[in-house]
Amino acid sequence: MNKVKIGLMGLGNIGRGVWKIFEFNKLDIEKSTGYSFEISKVLVKDLKKQRELDIPVHLLTTDPLDILNDKDIEIVVELIGGIEPAKDYILKAIRNKKHVVTANKAVIASHGNELIEAAIQEKVYLQFEGSVAGGIPILDSIKDSLTANKIDEIMGIVNGTTNYILSKMTNESTDFFSALKEAQGKGYAEADPTSDVEGYDASYKLSILSSLAFGTQLPVSAIYREGITKITPIDIEYARELGYVIKLLAIGKQKKDCVELRVHPTLIPVSHPLATIQDAFNGIFIRGNAVGDLMYYGKGAGDLPTGSAVVGNIISIIKKKQCSYIPDFKVNNAIEIQSMDSTI
Ligand code: HSE
Repeated sequence: MNKVKIGLMGLGNIGRGVWKIFEFNKLDIEKSTGYSFEISKVLVKDLKKQRELDIPVHLLTTDPLDILNDKDIEIVVELIGGIEPAKDYILKAIRNKKHVVTANKAVIASHGNELIEAAIQEKVYLQFEGSVAGGIPILDSIKDSLTANKIDEIMGIVNGTTNYILSKMTNESTDFFSALKEAQGKGYAEADPTSDVEGYDASYKLSILSSLAFGTQLPVSAIYREGITKITPIDIEYARELGYVIKLLAIGKQKKDCVELRVHPTLIPVSHPLATIQDAFNGIFIRGNAVGDLMYYGKGAGDLPTGSAVVGNIISIIKKKQCSYIPDFKVNNAIEIQSMDSTI
């Protein structure tokens, strides 16, 4: 059986999920692909750290070049997060003719076009399904299954932490800070939860969604953004009396000559499918001009859900590379953006 060697950069939550999936689904993956996948090096910060996983010590390294310059490694999986040095590692991997899979929303939202361009030049694949909505296969849907459509709008609950907080405030009348503490305890929140509660995380994800759905190429700072820190129990109570729930939505709408992009707390009628998304789950509503309305639902974070997206990307690269190279993404041109009212 052909062997594919993988270099894993980062052994946090998602990195451990990837390791576990290759362990417990090994036989099924081999059966369905005809390939055996081997994580042959793992970049970590601390070699001596106690780990729950039984990873042979000789696979661990603190030197990124052990992965980036290893001629046997075909696919580099970047899971260290943040912009630098992640961007540098991804570019070096691409320049060394390695395919790259990442779940890093910050780097893709900020430098996606440049990285895609480099990947196309080198005829390698760069995939990032795990960067938006964890295990929900939303990017593959938009760029593959839905390409027959003009996408008119996307509305998503794409941040699990804020949905968890708002669900707790709505269903159990918990106050904002206690709910945030619980979300952090469950491992949903980013290291600095400002990114979640102020809507930055959702803006990164909206930027990626809109670049695939609408062809936008915009700095994340161009997206209108408002977080949930000012939502009080009274707002939630008034919304309930009027037949609404409050959710942090990432909204993208294709208008005649522009695209409207915004992230903010939104009143949603209780009858709308997005109103039913509870706890840390994600939900994405898409309207296409041929397919009509679609609703995606699932776990937007966590080791195994996001690991599922990452491993799926790895397998799809191996399947694709058996054919002649066709770029997955095109490099987008600028489209004007407009941010306006705060309803759906
Ligand atoms: N902090 C993010 C969330 C993790 O709560 O959705 C997944 O991107």
